Amino acid sequence: MKKTTLLKTTLLLLVIISISCGEKKKKPILHFPETNLANENIIPKPSKIIATNSAFGLDSNTVIYTSQTSKEFEEVGLFLSEKIKEHINLTIPVNSTTNETVERIIYINKSDSISLTTKESYELYIAKDSIIINSKSAEGAFRAVQTLRQIIPNKSNDTITNHKMWLVPTGKITDSPNFEYRGSMLDVSRHFFSVDDVKKYIDLLAYYKINMLHLHLSDDQGWRIEIKSWPKLTQVSGNTEVGGGKGGFYTQEDYKSIVAYAAKHFITIIPEIDMPGHTNAAVVAYPILNGNGKTPKTYTGMRVGFSTFDAQKDTVYKFIDDVIREISAITPGPYFHIGGDESFVTKKKDYIYFLNTVEKIVQKYNKQMIGWDEISQANIGSQSIAQHWRDKEHSVEANEKGMKIILSPAKKTYLDMKYDKSSTYGLDWAGYVPVDVAYNWSPSLYFEELNKTNILGLEAPLWSETITNMATLEYLAFPRIIGHAELGWSVDEKRNWDNYKIRLANQASYLKRMNVNYYPSQLIDWNISN
Ligand code: ACM
Repeated sequence: MKKTTLLKTTLLLLVIISISCGEKKKKPILHFPETNLANENIIPKPSKIIATNSAFGLDSNTVIYTSQTSKEFEEVGLFLSEKIKEHINLTIPVNSTTNETVERIIYINKSDSISLTTKESYELYIAKDSIIINSKSAEGAFRAVQTLRQIIPNKSNDTITNHKMWLVPTGKITDSPNFEYRGSMLDVSRHFFSVDDVKKYIDLLAYYKINMLHLHLSDDQGWRIEIKSWPKLTQVSGNTEVGGGKGGFYTQEDYKSIVAYAAKHFITIIPEIDMPGHTNAAVVAYPILNGNGKTPKTYTGMRVGFSTFDAQKDTVYKFIDDVIREISAITPGPYFHIGGDESFVTKKKDYIYFLNTVEKIVQKYNKQMIGWDEISQANIGSQSIAQHWRDKEHSVEANEKGMKIILSPAKKTYLDMKYDKSSTYGLDWAGYVPVDVAYNWSPSLYFEELNKTNILGLEAPLWSETITNMATLEYLAFPRIIGHAELGWSVDEKRNWDNYKIRLANQASYLKRMNVNYYPSQLIDWNISN
């Protein structure tokens, strides 16, 4: 810790201690039941937990303080306070100087400790009268807050004092993510999902420490983001979707509000404009872009692989430049996803030329290019990222090019695959993906050919051909996405299905509280009692 930080922290703690001791003559000794922090139902499983078997009594005499050097830390404190209010209807002030009955504190501390190895790492110390979070960045503090939220019980203990108290088990948690990229994808093109739907999905992802949300914004059936220089994209193709429904699109202001909401939850939005295939909606709006020799017409079915941009036309690259420029300008994250999958009617040499050209456009706007695994066939550089979904060969080729790889193997991570034959929604081309199959694998060992340091992380995509609203989205995503969150965060040695199954069973009360229509898989003995 730097000397100045240490000084500030010490001063603040002295203030806090004097607040808490000044007014009180005698603190009653509270007798807590024995607890075990190591047995709490935390997902993802933290790196290390040491239980000290007593309790912190969260109550109306608790106050949150945050490092005074950072506005962002205060925002994390306010987030925690808001979530405690939503969960147990308890009001906890943040950085209050007037509260006279402070008996316990939650202190969110910006720390330079070298034991915090990444910006998301954190320490969470829970003692009888204080909870201290240490992290380098507000992002680490935010991840710690999710852990804390998960161990605040739903029910208060009303016998220890004359007022309600929620007993948080004491001990120490030290935690760090295994992978820096832990994502989900939402296909808002096959069916459109509103800004509020996406925000609800963000709330749920953040609770399980997922940090990336990839939005699949264009496909054959619909174009979902306003491009001011090419207005017909949304005027013509914003209002179509699979099955002939009314579709929809995000204005740039809508998109900015999603990006800002995600940022508040330390989630990066990754925009995807899929090309050169999966482009029927774009060519319906602007037929000049078309490269398949047919007259474009609206498509609301579920086939793939019939559309392509004309990779030989300058207008196409002017169009792509405008689209990437406009979207990049409102996307603070480092990535731009260009799709690149299933371009079955693009000639191979055109596909390669197209990818090479588009990679340069993405880089011109200071973004790192991501594409589905097929992109490794082009002569792209090691700074671009391949997203493995189906072809091992392509991903091995990407590895050989020194590209980083995001793992989204369809038979493990595709959230649109049916759970089993009884699934009401979903597809089955990659097989059924029951909850245990989705969880029981190791991203680090998935392909022995992949250099471990090239694995950026994993992402669970949710394609939306068969789902039309939030309830059906939730049915496919939950509970599988919770397991993927753990696969991204926790190292293999910390994970095992029998233990995970119990922790997952205990997510039922959170999912119910959040009104999530999860699939009640028979593999899980759901704890619906509390
Ligand atoms: C894909 O599922 N077409 C990437």
